[in-house]
Order: sequence, then C-alpha cells, then structure tokens
Amino acid sequence: MKTRRILGIETSCDETAAAVVGEDQSVQSSVVLSQVKEHAPYGGIVPEVAARAHDRTLQPVLAQALAEGGIREPAAELEAVAVTVKPGLIGALHVGVSAAKTLAWTWGKPLIAVDHLHGHIHSARMAAVMEGAPVGDAEPYVALVVSGGHTALYEVRGPLDTDITRMGKTRDDAAGEAFDKAAALLELPYPGGPSIQRAGETGNPKAVRFPRALIDDASSFDFSFSGLKTSVYYYLHGQNAGHGAKHRGPAGEIAGTADIAASFEQAVVDVLVHKAVRACEQRGIATLAVVGGVAANARLRRDVQAACGTRGLRLLVPPLWLCTDNAAMIAGMAWSLYRAGRTAPYTVEAQPR
Ligand code: KG4
Ligand code: ZN
Repeated sequence: MKTRRILGIETSCDETAAAVVGEDQSVQSSVVLSQVKEHAPYGGIVPEVAARAHDRTLQPVLAQALAEGGIREPAAELEAVAVTVKPGLIGALHVGVSAAKTLAWTWGKPLIAVDHLHGHIHSARMAAVMEGAPVGDAEPYVALVVSGGHTALYEVRGPLDTDITRMGKTRDDAAGEAFDKAAALLELPYPGGPSIQRAGETGNPKAVRFPRALIDDASSFDFSFSGLKTSVYYYLHGQNAGHGAKHRGPAGEIAGTADIAASFEQAVVDVLVHKAVRACEQRGIATLAVVGGVAANARLRRDVQAACGTRGLRLLVPPLWLCTDNAAMIAGMAWSLYRAGRTAPYTVEAQPR
C-alpha cells in the first residue's frame, strides 16, 4: 500500500515550485524553477516580473512534479492540494493560490493553506526523517529561519502552526537581504549570498571588524543587520576619504573584496550562531534547526555545527534543495495541518503579510 500523497505549490517569491510529498514525509518529487535570471538585470526581485513568470511557468512545473511523483490520475491518487498563502509578494502568491483552488475544486480534493515560514520551520522535521532520526511530536526545537525576506528565531513545541512561537526577529533587514545589499556595494552579482560566499573564500574574516548588532543584548532575540550594510558602505568609501570613490585593483575590481566579503560574512554568522545557541540554552531545548536560503552558507553551517558540537546540541540543517524555497516543505507542513483537520475553503485568498 502506497503512502497517501499531497501536492504542494509554492509561488510566494521568485521560485515557481511544486512537489509531491507522502504522509511519511517522503519527497516523491520536488520541482523548483528559479527566476534569478529574470530578476538579475534589476539587482533584486521585481514583483510584477515575478508574478508574470509564475503565471508562465507554473503549469509546466506542476506537470513535471506530478509526472516525477508518479501521479497519473490526480483525482484518484492525491489526498489534498496545499499552497503557500502567505507571506510574500501578493501578485506572486495569487498565481499559486488560484491554481491550487482550481485544481482542488476540479479534483474534488481538500485545500490546505500553508504559511511559507511554517514550511521553512517544518523542513527541519523532514531533514530529521531523512537522517533516519525523526523529531518526535513532543520533542521541542529552536528554529533559526534565515532567508532573503525573513530572519527570526522560533520555539517549536510540536508539528502544528499553533505549536510555534516567535522568540525574536530582525528589526530591519533580513540576513539574506544584508548579503544581497553588501554584494551590491561590492559590485558582486545578484543574488548576493552565493557571491559573497565565493568572494570571501580566500579572504581573512578578521581583516575588518564589522559591528555585531545586538549580540550582547541578552534581553532580546531580535536581530539588526541594516547597520552592518552601512558599515560596509563607509568602509568602502572611507578608504578614499573626501573622494567618495572606492579603491580599485588592476582589473578594476574593488581592492580587498575577499577580505571585506569574508569579514562581512563572519559578522552575520557570529550574530546568528550566538543568538540561536543562546535561545536553546535559555529555553532548555536540545535541538537547533537552521533553515531558509541563508542556511546554504558554508561559513554558517561550519560555525553552527562547531557551536552545537561543543554544547551537545543536536543540529538539523536540511539539504540545500530543502533550504532554499521549495514546495516540498509546503506539502510536508500541509500533512500536519491536514491530519489536524485544518483544511481551507476554496474561497481562501493570498495574504501578503
Ligand atoms: O529562502 P530563500 O530561497 O528565499 C526567501 O524566502 O527569501 O532565500 C534566499 C536568500 C537570498 O537573500 C540569498 O542571497 C541567500 O538566501 N543565500 C545565501 C546563500 N545562498 C542563498 N546567503 C548566504 N550564503 C549563501 N551561500
Ligand atoms: Zn523562503
């Protein structure tokens, strides 16, 4: 007997994604089409461009996810249709929500509305299943969500959305946003995270002492990254005080890019790791999950692993394809909601905030 299966759809930002996930959390297909190339010329995500691209590509992405998931007759073989309804770009969300409603209604299936952030938080559970050591329903963990749009710490006490409490969040820029903005200042290509990581590989992370905002503020689990971006700006322009120009190397590149990138990265990572580990210690929780696009960062993975190792904490970091935006985490989270009877009406709407 095959496991029951849910189709998940994700279009909240700049990835068009669909996936088929079993009740046992097995990922039977996960198709992600990135729009990075379409937004790169603008140096950031353009909402209108994102919505149009989802509109154009969602059908083929869905067809591929169903085919790879071995679904030939969706009405007979699927249990439900799940979709990200918030948060995200309203036009982008709308494309996925409309498709999900139409499919669920046509196939006569329940619809499940998923919060994108709960999907990221849930991806840690899927990672644990893949490791062969599932996190029990009563087993708590702290989740550090670090992406282009969000940076926050959560206490997770169970598999439902109602079991999740936010401990703190960024007061300004998200960590990924800080990477993207710092990369732009360094004239590195968009998206900034992977660019900074590559540029910083040969750099000295101690070369520049960038600020670590709120790191010693034991009263809060909030973050702040906008000052860091400003520091990078002043560091670059301050070198040629008075001229406002950046020092250039022989090939026209910004002098010291590797050191600046590595130092910037280290400043972000130090704050993230420090706060996440302190959250576990303060709440007496033995498992830490790091999820979202920035969890792809090698320096973050390395440092958080070391920090958890010395403190005896279990660390859950999903594989890269489950860290960056995808629909598998949405379908996975949908199973928790579905089992609790939490289906949505066919009139459900996309909610940007
Ligand atoms: O979770 P995600 O795919 O989309 C959002 O929900 O935002 O995260 C995208 C973010 C971008 O800001 C990107 O620069 C960042 O994740 N990112 C990285 C790396 N790979 C992606 N940041 C740092 N290091 C990386 N290797
Ligand atoms: Zn995301």
